[in-house]
Amino acid sequence: MTVKIAPSLLACDFARLGEEMQAVEAARANWHHVDVMDGHFVPNISFGQPLVKTMGKVASIPLDVHLMVHEPGPYLAEFAALGSAVLTVHVEAVKHLHRTLGAIKELGVNAGVALNPATPLSCLEEVLDEVDLVCLMSVNPGFGGQKFIEGTVDKTRRLRQMLGDRPVEIEIDGGVGEGNAASLIEAGASVLVAGTSVFGKADYAAAIASLRA
Ligand code: DX5
Ligand code: ZN
Repeated sequence: MTVKIAPSLLACDFARLGEEMQAVEAARANWHHVDVMDGHFVPNISFGQPLVKTMGKVASIPLDVHLMVHEPGPYLAEFAALGSAVLTVHVEAVKHLHRTLGAIKELGVNAGVALNPATPLSCLEEVLDEVDLVCLMSVNPGFGGQKFIEGTVDKTRRLRQMLGDRPVEIEIDGGVGEGNAASLIEAGASVLVAGTSVFGKADYAAAIASLRA
């Protein structure tokens, strides 16, 4: 399995959103990672539906939408219609996770679950057959450019073991860069989200290639 690289658009130059999206596509990004923050579940507000709609129009690779939103149920259909290929909700932000995952799949979109750094893998035990992607947060969500939490490598390894032969993506989000990408891939990660370590560099193609190596 070759690792997918998902640059986080939160770190791009929004004044040049379309160009930035085309630039990472030309640099062989696999997905666009889209961080929606509600200022309630996380202590920050990023952007909402109008911008995601624009991203959906421009994108020629899948939109991987990370909803850092308290009880996102009422918005799922809208985000699916705007062009999301994956909709990821936080286990800490939804009361009825099984129902929410079912609702995402009914919309014809892949269902993801994200876990904060302090959330144990055991909370996934009863939904392993309902998810297409598990996102392990390697920083506390809410901001780009934070320091990677080292324990995520071992958590990744334990999650891969827990998933067995299920075809579930393991995505790592936060502080991912050249210094930890190889050990995450070795531990079983299949999608690496990268904000600062791609958009903070002058050469996006070299930055993305260095994460795959
Ligand atoms: C954090 C977001 C991340 C973030 C990643 O709340 O979910 O996707 O933008 O940015 P970097 O790679 O800079 O940590
Ligand atoms: Zn994210």
